[in-house]
Amino acid sequence: RYEITQREASAEILPGLRTPLWTYEGTFPGPTIESRRGHPVTVTHRNELSVPTVVHLHGGRTPADSDGYPTDLVLPWSGVDHGHGMHDPRAVVTELTRDYTFPLDQRPTLLWYHDHRMDYTAPAIWRGLAGLHIVRDDAEESLGLPAGPRELPLMIADRAFAADGSLIYPALPDRPGVTEEYLAGVLGDVILVNGAPWPVHEVDAARYRLRLLNASNARHYELEAVTDDGRRLDLVQIGADQGLLAAPVTHATLPVAPAERYDVIVDFAGVPVGGRVRILNRLGAGRTREVMAFRVARRAADDSRIPGVLSADLPVWQRSDAVRVREFAFRAGRMHGHHGWLIGGLPFDPARSDVVTGLGDVEVWRLVADVHHPIHLHLAGFRVLSRSGRPPLPHDVGLKDTVSLRPGESVEIITRFDGYRGRYLFHCHNAEHEDMGMMANLEII
Ligand code: C2O
Ligand code: CU
Ligand code: CU
Repeated sequence: RYEITQREASAEILPGLRTPLWTYEGTFPGPTIESRRGHPVTVTHRNELSVPTVVHLHGGRTPADSDGYPTDLVLPWSGVDHGHGMHDPRAVVTELTRDYTFPLDQRPTLLWYHDHRMDYTAPAIWRGLAGLHIVRDDAEESLGLPAGPRELPLMIADRAFAADGSLIYPALPDRPGVTEEYLAGVLGDVILVNGAPWPVHEVDAARYRLRLLNASNARHYELEAVTDDGRRLDLVQIGADQGLLAAPVTHATLPVAPAERYDVIVDFAGVPVGGRVRILNRLGAGRTREVMAFRVARRAADDSRIPGVLSADLPVWQRSDAVRVREFAFRAGRMHGHHGWLIGGLPFDPARSDVVTGLGDVEVWRLVADVHHPIHLHLAGFRVLSRSGRPPLPHDVGLKDTVSLRPGESVEIITRFDGYRGRYLFHCHNAEHEDMGMMANLEII
């Protein structure tokens, strides 16, 4: 059982400046919750902010009433400003504190929790409402992977700051004059890792397990690990959004779209003491090329290993198992005379039924994009079947809950709607696209 108070706080993110934030428990990121597979956790959220909030555990196999539906609000403790986000009277459960119950009957992995209020998710996450939740189990711990101080969850998120240290968000949906910047998704020019700008982390000359999360609203990364003498270290992927792969996959560079997680081993053994390894974003320019660095501080024994077989419980759905094929177009369009981001030509409407499927049904979804859209399904982990008629990319491996649709692409995924009945969501995880309508209901009956 955890208790989390959502409140305003400030932090020294840039040297000598205070940044006002919206926080879980006064920190950004919020407190990291660690739990065991199959051991339910209840998190009581108390909202002391001035706006309603919604908490969603991203990647959680969670009953619908604790999944953080966008109109399922925790009202502000102070009781002011109840006016926003309550668009669906039939769905609204309004409370000042809220118990979210997570059974965590799922594969161990890195999850994250974040705000999910209808139309206001992007600015809420930007202001700080995000935290990590790690699920573990005995099987994973017996593999001998790097652990303890050699396991590093890394929440990567860009932000923009004003000269006084406050965050800049170019436009809010309730402010007139929505800017071009806002439409495409908001980018910052400062890269934060676990809330710190471009951190330098001291490491042993040994293997480390980096549990990467792209918590940025809209920024894509293609990460590489580069030594001082320009050598690239292998990124050995051992896990995806929904836990361990069957076997490791080695990458030279690794694309990470918003909300995706990659579980990666990097071996610093060949780096001289005093040497650095920089984590760079090949898609960035200037200072947004830099993400963080590791400084090898000492030689050290390393008894960790990367087993050739990591897990044997990945679902093996076949195309022929699918009882239905659906197609969704993720495209820009007009809504109420304004620019919107739409699914199948429609903006999100909590009162509309978009997808109704049976518990246990296997389906193939074909997702078609205009520009880049990272698409996320609540509840159901999926596998990538194809990209524009071709085999998936090497990093599409494993069980995922978010997949990056690249411009013009058509991506097929396969999943089984398993776990709980109820109303869930699928949406673009470019947080601004999500707020501008690119979200739909997924009802499991
Ligand atoms: Cu990470 Cu529906 O969200
Ligand atoms: Cu989610
Ligand atoms: Cu999008």
